Amino acid sequence: MSFTIAPEAVARPNRSQLFIPGSRPEIFAKGVASATDVLNLDLEDAVAPDQKVQARKNIIAALQEEDFGQKVVSVRINGLDTHYCYRDVVDLIEQAGERLDMIMIPKVGKAADLYAIDMLVTQAEMAVGRKKKIKFEVIMETALGLTNMKEIVQATPRLESVHFGVADYAASMGMAVTGIGGTQSHYGMLADGEGDRGYSLTDPWHYPIVQMVATARAHGILPVDGPFGDFSDDEAYLAQARRSQVLGCAGKWAIHPKQVALANDVFTPNEEIIGRAQRILDAMAQAERDGLGAVTLDGKLIDIASIRQAKVIMGQAEMIAKQHG
Ligand code: COA
Ligand code: MG
Repeated sequence: MSFTIAPEAVARPNRSQLFIPGSRPEIFAKGVASATDVLNLDLEDAVAPDQKVQARKNIIAALQEEDFGQKVVSVRINGLDTHYCYRDVVDLIEQAGERLDMIMIPKVGKAADLYAIDMLVTQAEMAVGRKKKIKFEVIMETALGLTNMKEIVQATPRLESVHFGVADYAASMGMAVTGIGGTQSHYGMLADGEGDRGYSLTDPWHYPIVQMVATARAHGILPVDGPFGDFSDDEAYLAQARRSQVLGCAGKWAIHPKQVALANDVFTPNEEIIGRAQRILDAMAQAERDGLGAVTLDGKLIDIASIRQAKVIMGQAEMIAKQHG
């Protein structure tokens, strides 16, 4: 282990994160009633320009009136390149009250973007005497943001989570794709040889996700996978969510209420996984008593690193059980 210990990320479940456009207040209640861990009311790309001002009012009214229960409530503001951004921040902090937990900042490109929003938020918080500091979440979805991610995740102690925004990322990178997540029919490999060479699709999102997870985890920030647009294809959503979970993400967005249950299921360790982790911990406790560092469990090597792996799973399960019983 390095002499520098990576800080722990915030200890709260972030398995599912349901988005609702701020311009559809009639469905806010469905988000409130859902089982999502984080609820995001959107002011950015799910809201048409001529609806932005009304959407802001709708969201502020909901934050003042609705009972959001245990949910973490976040509002995605407009980007720093728009003229909506400053008023999103100022109106939300001045008018929405203490129930707003976080703001999500899209298309972050540099640490200075967070510095600027932090300055605005800090002033507005001071002006209204807000008791609880607003937390930040940011979306990694541009080439610039990806390139500067290391500085971005260290920009402010307000930052809790970092998210992969697949559609804007594809656009910013100049990728020839239109879907929001999923496989791409032209992104695959052919086996060597002749005859049926078994074209197999590979994953165009693997690199930015792994980069995000490593950068986030090194600095105590939660990494979260973003949207999957084809909400009629549960199997494909599950495949992508499972892959993100294997790579270390804490959760995945839901752009439709049906995706909330899918995300919660994938990002909650099940009994089989917990049982296996417990058996590893038991076997390693016995190994320690026997003065051994490496032993065999079910015909496979386990050693002291296996304890750390098992503790990740047990820690996730305990945190979720603590919040959800
Ligand atoms: N949150 C809460 N409820 C939602 C919802 C959401 N994001 N999306 C749909 N619903 C509701 C609908 O109102 C409908 O309710 P009803 O059965 O009582 O009428 C039900 O769930 C089924 O909805 P459906 O008809 O399948 O979808 P739709 O055509 O109303 O909306 C979308 C489809 C994709 C436009 C909508 O889901 C949406 O706007 N999603 C969020 C988009 C977003 O915020 N993007 C930003 C992040 S990428
Ligand atoms: Mg985006």
